[in-house]
Amino acid sequence: MNTVYILLAAVTLCMSLFSNKIFSFFPTSTQPVKTAMTKRHTSFDLVQKDYKTPVFFLSHGGPTFMYPKADFGGDTGAFNKTKSIGKYIRNILNPDFLIVVSAHWQSNLKDTVEIAVPNLLQMDNKLDASENELIHDFYGFPSHMYKEQFHSLSCMDLANTIKQTLTENGIKAKLTQRGIDHGVWVPFKPAFTEPNVADSGNLDVPFPLVQVSLAGSDDFDIQFKLGQVLGNFRDKNGVIVCSGMSVHNLGDIGASMQYPKQVVPYAFGFNEVLRNLFKKPSELQSFKTILTNEESRKLYLKSHPSAEHFLPLVVAGGAGEKEEVEELYNNETFSLGWGIYRFGDEPKL
Ligand SMILES: *[C@@H]1O[C@H](CO)[C@@H](O)[C@H](O)[C@H]1NC(C)=O
Ligand SMILES: *[C@@H]1O[C@H](CO)[C@@H](O)[C@H](O)[C@H]1NC(C)=O
Repeated sequence: MNTVYILLAAVTLCMSLFSNKIFSFFPTSTQPVKTAMTKRHTSFDLVQKDYKTPVFFLSHGGPTFMYPKADFGGDTGAFNKTKSIGKYIRNILNPDFLIVVSAHWQSNLKDTVEIAVPNLLQMDNKLDASENELIHDFYGFPSHMYKEQFHSLSCMDLANTIKQTLTENGIKAKLTQRGIDHGVWVPFKPAFTEPNVADSGNLDVPFPLVQVSLAGSDDFDIQFKLGQVLGNFRDKNGVIVCSGMSVHNLGDIGASMQYPKQVVPYAFGFNEVLRNLFKKPSELQSFKTILTNEESRKLYLKSHPSAEHFLPLVVAGGAGEKEEVEELYNNETFSLGWGIYRFGDEPKL
């Protein structure tokens, strides 16, 4: 099969599967073709709404978080809250698409953001060529966990539009053939599927889903900017979900056992830092004070020995810039923090 044929097939699939949504794949006079990229493969019309969808940050725990009663790597309260957020997104917001950012995908390319697209020639465990493949990116877990499925479709035109929007706003962007990682699909199991069903055999979300990587840098500025650019999709009936942890220090899980409640003290401390930060509307400067204030910097470095589980929160902060932040849930287990946040109000629909 040649590339043109595959792309045409993808477009046709997108159109037939989401025909109730207004996706138009051909440039109109009001939407001039801007780049060589879009010339071959046109952008779709985003539907302008008079409201913005809220942005969600989820704490995804370990891969066992997908199960309702996970002793380790789970948290019942977070599980229940994630489920209710999924119901809210699906039934109330009813978006045209989801854009997701996970701790488990940070680009290796400096200051670059990658956009995942499926391998259209790969059909194993897939319902459709344009389905997002799953990456079971965890090691040493029981074999049944590697059979878990979550079925969602990508959309090449949406991926291209995200790329174009990033590029036009000064962020280097490229499409990368890749599935979605457990930072996305593990919390999406409770959010969008029935508990304890390994494989529904159906699409688990009725709208396309595109994963976007963290920018290839630990710098808060560029992650915040990535969020700002993705925020452009909020009044186009897209929902942005960022997935990380408010506290994530796997190296201290063992050490946590010696503390009261078996929780490291800094987990309470850093969740409190974030609670104080989010008393004000989201801004880059507040995130930066985490690093400039000596006390919060210490708590941050303990809570995030590496930045990748925190950076999706900075992206969410950018997408919800100048808007109110609500902590929807929090808890501390071992050396993990379970902050779940919403940026921006729930629109009156
Ligand atoms: C979670 O939801 C289950 C099922 O609705 C309920 O039985 C349980 O009490 C909830 N637990 C928490 C901590 O919210
Ligand atoms: C919060 O975490 C503690 C352990 O630190 C756990 O015992 C409790 O069940 C958790 N609460 C919820 C609501 O899940």
